[in-house]
Amino acid sequence: MKKIVLFLAGAAVSLALQAQVRVSIHETAQNQPVIPAEIYGQFSEHLGRCIYEGIWVGPESSIPNVDGYRSDVVKALRDLKVPVLRWPGGCFADEYHWMDGIGPKENRPKLVNNNWGSTVEDNSFGTHEFLNLCELLGAEPYISGNVGSGTVEELAKWVEYMTAENGSMAELRARNGREKPWKVKYLGIGNETWGCGGDMTAQYYSDVYKRYALYSRNHGDNRLFKVACGASDYDYDWTRTLMKNAASKMDGLSLHYYTVGDWNHKGSATDFTADEYYNTLAKSVEIDQVLRNHEVIMDVYDPQRRVALLLDEWGTWFDVEPGTNPGHLFQQNTMRDAMVAAFSLNIFQKHTARLKMANIAQIVNVLQAMVLTKGSQMVLTPTYHVFRMYNVHQEATYVPTDYSCGMLVSPSGRAMDDFSACASRDAAGVLHVSLANPSLDKSVTVELSFDQLKPGSVSGEILKARRINAYNDFGKKPEVAPAPFKEAKVSGKTVQLTLPAASVVVLEVK
Ligand code: AHR
Repeated sequence: MKKIVLFLAGAAVSLALQAQVRVSIHETAQNQPVIPAEIYGQFSEHLGRCIYEGIWVGPESSIPNVDGYRSDVVKALRDLKVPVLRWPGGCFADEYHWMDGIGPKENRPKLVNNNWGSTVEDNSFGTHEFLNLCELLGAEPYISGNVGSGTVEELAKWVEYMTAENGSMAELRARNGREKPWKVKYLGIGNETWGCGGDMTAQYYSDVYKRYALYSRNHGDNRLFKVACGASDYDYDWTRTLMKNAASKMDGLSLHYYTVGDWNHKGSATDFTADEYYNTLAKSVEIDQVLRNHEVIMDVYDPQRRVALLLDEWGTWFDVEPGTNPGHLFQQNTMRDAMVAAFSLNIFQKHTARLKMANIAQIVNVLQAMVLTKGSQMVLTPTYHVFRMYNVHQEATYVPTDYSCGMLVSPSGRAMDDFSACASRDAAGVLHVSLANPSLDKSVTVELSFDQLKPGSVSGEILKARRINAYNDFGKKPEVAPAPFKEAKVSGKTVQLTLPAASVVVLEVK
């Protein structure tokens, strides 16, 4: 039975100052899915300072770099274990012509970024720079093809340029310095084709998708995983139509879900009230139901679950930082974003029967970023820390958990659990449990019990801050950073701990 904590006139009404949750961990459960690393995927777009300055400064820059990629960002991203990186957009992708971004840099045409602040770019970051970055990071590339304003031939030739062993595209690639083809797995056939990617109906796009997909060939031993552009949020008709018309021709179908309250008044990323905090969190966890609804529709047309669902854009979207270009979507990142990340990742890990990838928007300097840069400075965001703490779940076997917690009702009227937990077992047999407590004023006492495991030791890390609005700023001591968590204790056959208010903990149980 769930206890409901109501919000009245903006204040949480609750009797106890501390909640209690018992989590049963079923580590003996058989035939559980492996959590795809791609759930921890990232998205990079030619938008604001994501690529230029955020990732790419060029080899001549005074900012320390490795072949033009800034060293601090590359190191941070390598520590993060980025499994897959989507590029070049977003809306940008449907106006991107890949041939402008190859060959000698001085010959590359300049491009006006019509979607994002009309910024002029010099195309110095193109196909080679992106695919070499993926190799540097050990990330799988996810190319988003231009369907909105590009031709079938242009996309077919791009695939050939990247992946073919022979032929004139392979020769052109070799002349541009890369003899060996790259491995490219994920190919998105258009982005938001219902909007910035062509303004199409689902019916019309179904045929367009099939046409572009047909001519995007597998060259040599490269095998494409073709992703049809999917719905936004609650547009279940789009999913239904695409699955009905084109499921047999796709490997995956995408979905976008941003945490935004009101598109006209998104609110400040840093200056927000407790009410706004709960509204944001409750909106973000609604993804659980949204995923379920899309999955149910996909099950109708694909009961074997061959077609993957890819949430290839998600995250918080607030007002830009005051004084910055409104088209550059640069926002700060607080402990609130960390809570959104923790709750979301715990949810995604429960959907992997169908959900095979998620790409947070975006990796650097845009929306819910992992790192922010300012000239030569870089900060790790609270969201980064959650992704780093949680990466123990990548490729681990999902371990089911049962718990009965209370519920919150946000001031905007959305109900959500007042606790979140998820567990996995890695290849070495070590159990990891990620826990999050959304309450701003109440801690939770947690008892973990196991099917059979007799815990010998427990250790962990915690992310919490002195206030929910805390963030990491340039040139200042970080306000949000993970710390060792020593409060979890083995007690007989259980592990006992207290999860402080507004905190995220990842435990390792042996
Ligand atoms: O991430 C910013 C934008 O949001 C992307 O370019 C687009 O796909 C979505 O609308």
